[in-house]
Amino acid sequence: MKTSFLKIVQCAFAVALGFSSCQTTQSEMKLEQQGDSLTVVHITHPTKYLLLPIEEKAAESQVRLDTGDAADTDMDVRLAQTQVDYFVPFELPAGVRTATVRINRIAKEALCWKQMKLSDTFDTTNTDKFRPVYHHTPLYGWMNDANGLVYKDGEYHLYFQYNPYGSVWGNMHWGHSVSKDLMHWEHRAPAIARDTLGHIFSGSSVVDVNNTAGYGAGTIVAFYTSASDKNGQIQCMAYSCDNGNTYTKYEKNPVLTSFDGLKDFRDPKVFWYAPEEKWVMIVSADKEMRFYASKNLKEWEYLSAWGEGYGVQPRQFECPDMVQLPVNGDKSRMKWVMLVNVNPGCYFGGSATQYFVGDFDGTHFICDSPKETVKWLDWGKDHYATVCFSNTGDRVIGVPWMSNWQYANIVPTRQYRSANALPRELGLYEQAGELYVSAAPVKEVQGLRRENKEVPAFTIDAEYRIESLLNDNEGAYELELHFTNETAKVMGFKLFNEAEEEVNIYFDLPEGKLVMDRTKSGIVDFGRNSTPHTLEAHDRRVSTSINYRDDFALATWGPVAKAPTHTLNVFVDKCSVEIFLDGGKIAMTNLVFPNAPYNRMSFYGNGGSYRVDKCAIYKLEL
Ligand code: FRU
Repeated sequence: MKTSFLKIVQCAFAVALGFSSCQTTQSEMKLEQQGDSLTVVHITHPTKYLLLPIEEKAAESQVRLDTGDAADTDMDVRLAQTQVDYFVPFELPAGVRTATVRINRIAKEALCWKQMKLSDTFDTTNTDKFRPVYHHTPLYGWMNDANGLVYKDGEYHLYFQYNPYGSVWGNMHWGHSVSKDLMHWEHRAPAIARDTLGHIFSGSSVVDVNNTAGYGAGTIVAFYTSASDKNGQIQCMAYSCDNGNTYTKYEKNPVLTSFDGLKDFRDPKVFWYAPEEKWVMIVSADKEMRFYASKNLKEWEYLSAWGEGYGVQPRQFECPDMVQLPVNGDKSRMKWVMLVNVNPGCYFGGSATQYFVGDFDGTHFICDSPKETVKWLDWGKDHYATVCFSNTGDRVIGVPWMSNWQYANIVPTRQYRSANALPRELGLYEQAGELYVSAAPVKEVQGLRRENKEVPAFTIDAEYRIESLLNDNEGAYELELHFTNETAKVMGFKLFNEAEEEVNIYFDLPEGKLVMDRTKSGIVDFGRNSTPHTLEAHDRRVSTSINYRDDFALATWGPVAKAPTHTLNVFVDKCSVEIFLDGGKIAMTNLVFPNAPYNRMSFYGNGGSYRVDKCAIYKLEL
């Protein structure tokens, strides 16, 4: 084996100030390249970070901080071979004289060796033009599902599937952000890091008010799936005695494994079942959900399984949640709602969130509707892995991941990938004898309303244009619209920019549909897929099927019940449009990537007239 050394002296200094002199300690990095595969990076006087150059299309190399401990874990990093897309920080230990980083599976000639650098800082200034203004995003790197959502002592903790070493999926950690109002998020260091048991997949957390686990009353206890080729998918626990900031992994993990060796057995949701004073865990187990019970959060006993054959078929179940909601706000009529995230093969392609309304007797979930009934929580294409906060009292607040597995890894952002959709307050309403879940944006979003412009009421029988929605439109605003139908068959409007990129939103009244069409919304071809797919109507409330040419450039729709008036709240941010019909009876969330903000609007009708009784435009700002 041929070993070569390359010495790189960095201009990074650790400065110690004395009385009259200034002593500097130079940080140094030496590469010991052992053949074609393994390189050992020897660092003296380590800075805070080793900045790693990333090329997204490159294969993964394994990077490990070598402390000699059995817990040292390889991280999969797409180190630059021929071009640098961006850098990510690899944290080095503090207070040591030397540090060693071992890097496997990358050739000697790769560009990364010239570009890697030591630094005490990592610049997180936003560089993405599509980064949302008022939706939560990670500071940098990849994000998918919301995890472990919990409210405690005035703070909402949003953990999330996070890759700190690149803006595509990998190295699952639980990233962490904290907010007092669900709108302003403070980024914290990842709370639970990938380890030798595996990736830290999705899960939930609870506040252990009665100290059932023995870590102290009020401890936050988190449950997640450790996932690796070696161990499969096993359920693990970690606890936090500092209000959710840092977690200690339970030394006897895993707390639960599948009894039949299922490959897909993940995303534990834990909640307190008060009537029997016990904890219940739901784990998605391939195409069903499995229920377990525990008194101490550590020992779990199998209760039952539910879901085989329910909803769209045959689909993988992921990220369960189960919440109790009053019917039409009446607390004497409580029902249980099971959220089931499914992927792939949803209504508009890829991933989406279904739900089932029923009862729970402490052991079994009993669904009210027949197996083939399908109910969607959101009728757009970019709403997935929705789960709810624990410990929020009467409020049930869900947080969706605003993307779709079909194209999440290739959307046109770079520094970070994926945002959360607006947090939504869930409710239950009755329509034609069936129960449905409503999802309305949390009221806190109203606190972001700034400039307000109101257009006087008008009637449409041809076209009505608003040439400028806002004077300084940065692409983040809300529209509140009230429609009264007179004789129209179609009531609609387009939001568009100077480049004639548009989002077309309309009611197709004879068909009973609310449609959002993003075919011409801006950049749409990154998701182009050459295989056409036909989607069947899965919901009995919608009777049409349609052909799509493309995964991204398409229209989505939801069912609209006949009514003389409708309200629509439309939330536009740099790369998304979310619409909420009649207080959230229908929610629809879609990504868009316009080259300039949509600052114009044109209302149109077809087949008769309608009135716009209210058209308010609010600039939204944090
Ligand atoms: C859902 C999901 C989960 C899994 C996680 C991995 O989007 O596939 O089932 O825990 O993502 O990142």
